[in-house]
Amino acid sequence: MGLEANKSMEYHVLPPKGLLNDPNGLICYKGIYHVFFQWNPHGTDHGFKYWGHATSRDLVNYEYHDAALEPVDWFDKNGCYSGSSIEHDGKLYLFYTGNVKSDEGIRTNYQCAAVSEDGMSFRKIGPVTRHPEGYTQHMRDPKVMKGEDGSFYMVLGAQRDDLTGDTVAYRSADLITWEFLGSIMSVREKLGYMWECPDLLRLEGKDVFVFSPQGLEPEGDRFNNIFQTGYYTGCFQGGRFHWDGQPFEEMDKGFEFYAPQTFVDGRGRTILFGWMGTMPSEMEAAMPTVREGWIHHLTLPRVISFEGGKLIQTPVEELVGLRCEKEEKHGRSMDLDIPDRAYELNIKIKGPLDTFGLVYRNEVRLSFESTERRFTVERTNWATSLREVRGVKLDGALESITIYTEETSMEIFINGGEEVFSLRYFAKDEDRNISMEIEGAEAGIEAVSYRLESGRE
Ligand code: FRU
Repeated sequence: MGLEANKSMEYHVLPPKGLLNDPNGLICYKGIYHVFFQWNPHGTDHGFKYWGHATSRDLVNYEYHDAALEPVDWFDKNGCYSGSSIEHDGKLYLFYTGNVKSDEGIRTNYQCAAVSEDGMSFRKIGPVTRHPEGYTQHMRDPKVMKGEDGSFYMVLGAQRDDLTGDTVAYRSADLITWEFLGSIMSVREKLGYMWECPDLLRLEGKDVFVFSPQGLEPEGDRFNNIFQTGYYTGCFQGGRFHWDGQPFEEMDKGFEFYAPQTFVDGRGRTILFGWMGTMPSEMEAAMPTVREGWIHHLTLPRVISFEGGKLIQTPVEELVGLRCEKEEKHGRSMDLDIPDRAYELNIKIKGPLDTFGLVYRNEVRLSFESTERRFTVERTNWATSLREVRGVKLDGALESITIYTEETSMEIFINGGEEVFSLRYFAKDEDRNISMEIEGAEAGIEAVSYRLESGRE
């Protein structure tokens, strides 16, 4: 199956056609990276979810395959929802949620498994857990991992009967028979009505619990998207997450970022892909790519680490392989022409600054002012035509900005990945200029840009 869809997206994982949402089953299996994703091949709505499948040897070039899972069985007939994968005895196991709706619209969930000997064709095993008491049918997105005690653990996004979000754990010795352990949090905050896509990352002695709670109210610069993804820090042991009490921190301060998943590759790196999802549905319906028969894509693969009490995200170093012509400029104010659709821009700030501003294609505006240390990103909402802003207060000075951009998509990494903003944007074709300006007696900008080119046809 070739990529019939958008030719302007150079290096992201995107749907061959139809709609893509969450990354699923991420793994490096037998030396090949497998990226599965929630996929509706029949349309640009959320109708029927399959598991789409792409593989890569270098995290830069992807080959697209037939769907790995199709919603055709009694236990998944309304969707093969999100989940994860794990290698065991040389085989690749997928875990996912079978979504079933009755004629009356009543939902039932089944946590299901499938297995493969070659990573290409999958045999469904069917449901492997029992629905526990105390929880509604909003239970999904199994993430399976091996614990230090040799047992397998499954964590699941859940909603309690009192309509609060939660994450529960199951344990297994063989991946087939699962024992219910209960909530992973003994102390739990009320954080929305449903927690989707839980993930647990072990980073330099710190465990990070990443999840996507639904139903948070905006608080200043926090929680301004309809749904958000963030994390708690603590320690995960025996199916329990001992939270250290640090507040829930959003992972990406931009507009389009949700339901990420991580895996550890052969080099020991923790790599994350997220869904650059556009929500709510009015914005999905108005998304210009719908006219081309596709919608949404994944983020770049990002290496995750934990330094100085902060989660750091940096694009995988393999992306350097995309770099073509280089341009370098120094100054206090400058204009750059965008040489092509896909583009990497590295900005270093020299000296103490008062303000910094960047206007990209007359559409996206980045700004920073040093009194409040607030960094903001502004773009036009393509459904309402209104300007909208996301912002964050940096811990220290603004030192560097790295931007990866394609024709309609942008990922902005600040101070080496201390803060990240992901967004889609829609600019006029003829606007192909970037302008930058810095203020402060001693301040200057050093900008290095690259045209990016992937092997994609
Ligand atoms: C998150 C999510 C998951 C679910 C999937 C269905 O975006 O709602 O909870 O498994 O999408 O496509």
